[in-house]
Amino acid sequence: MKVLVAGGAGYIGAHVVRALAAHGHTPIILDDLRASSIDRCHPFTLEAVPLEDTSRVLEVFQKHEPEAVVHLGGYISVGESMREPTRYWENNLGSGISLLLACARFPVHTFLFSSTAAVYGTTTESPIDENSPLVPTSPYGASKLAFERALHRSAAALGIRSLALRYFNASGANVEWGVGEAHDPEEHLIPRVIRSLLDGNLVQVYGDDYPTPDGTCVRDYVHVSDLAEAHVLALESAELETGQSFNVGTGCGYSVLEVIQEIAKQLSLNPNIQFLPRRPGDPPRLVANASSLMSCLQWHPTHSSLEEIVGSAIAWEMSAVNKGSSQPSPALNTSGGR
Ligand SMILES: NC(=O)c1ccc[n+]([C@@H]2O[C@H](COP(=O)([O-])OP(=O)(O)OC[C@H]3O[C@@H](n4cnc5c(N)ncnc54)[C@H](O)[C@@H]3O)[C@@H](O)[C@H]2O)c1
Repeated sequence: MKVLVAGGAGYIGAHVVRALAAHGHTPIILDDLRASSIDRCHPFTLEAVPLEDTSRVLEVFQKHEPEAVVHLGGYISVGESMREPTRYWENNLGSGISLLLACARFPVHTFLFSSTAAVYGTTTESPIDENSPLVPTSPYGASKLAFERALHRSAAALGIRSLALRYFNASGANVEWGVGEAHDPEEHLIPRVIRSLLDGNLVQVYGDDYPTPDGTCVRDYVHVSDLAEAHVLALESAELETGQSFNVGTGCGYSVLEVIQEIAKQLSLNPNIQFLPRRPGDPPRLVANASSLMSCLQWHPTHSSLEEIVGSAIAWEMSAVNKGSSQPSPALNTSGGR
């Protein structure tokens, strides 16, 4: 199957592209590299086009005639979205609409969208299932939810099968594929803690007074290879109904301190932890009930133990440092948010 992967040069997209190719599909990357680099695209076809440029997106559809679209392109920071909400609406909603306009003109049969646990906001439910209230607290979460709705409604009218996957905390790396996590700035817990420990810096944690066993935030970490596999299964499935949104997580939660301890253990280093006040908007606990996806797709995460996630992230970080391609160490502020 020929699959257009918008945002395919990003962290998760690069894994999805390689998983598709490993299953015999032909991925075409549509990504203008605003938050990634061309290193992640080799040996695949890249169309370096901004998603919001609808006429150029139409040309890409005309040239490649994709049968399916996976849409991972967008901005990803909750905090940045609070400071610059309009950019998030423009990109996370507007650029998705540009893809839908192209789908209205060309015979695409499936559209798979990367959504997020942020659509649930600061829920107190745990684990969270897809029927939990949708009350996003940031423009990031709200813009992703708005596109889910726009997608499902448009797809129904266009006769396209639409699916949204609400990722919890994507993490780890597939070192064999030579791709891993490298956002700039890096806001995610695992790569930040690894870099802080390797650089001998303080590890800062937002909040130690949450109603969780050790007082720090609890999150559901899913290995990016398992996440990529879910995309392949969703595209290949003949049975999934259109208009569905699924959680993608493991159902296991780990606290920020548990994650730091696992990283420190694997690096044989002692973390020097500094606790800071809570960060506004961080829910105490975000753990997925992903039973719906598991039963519909027979999807089971096989790489998502904390040990394997952390081990693969460290291996990737070491290989990136050795190749000189890692992002520079950012100023420290580490939390479990996403
Ligand atoms: N990383 C996570 O843990 C996580 C969790 C939940 C949801 N998600 C969602 O998954 C998707 C991918 O996340 P990621 O961590 O791989 O992010 P990423 O920033 O690494 O990748 C996004 C890619 O999209 C491209 N892009 C963005 N806007 C574009 C535009 N207008 N035109 C062309 N290209 C554009 C960027 O260049 C980048 O390569 C995002 O939509 C994000 O909201 C990620």
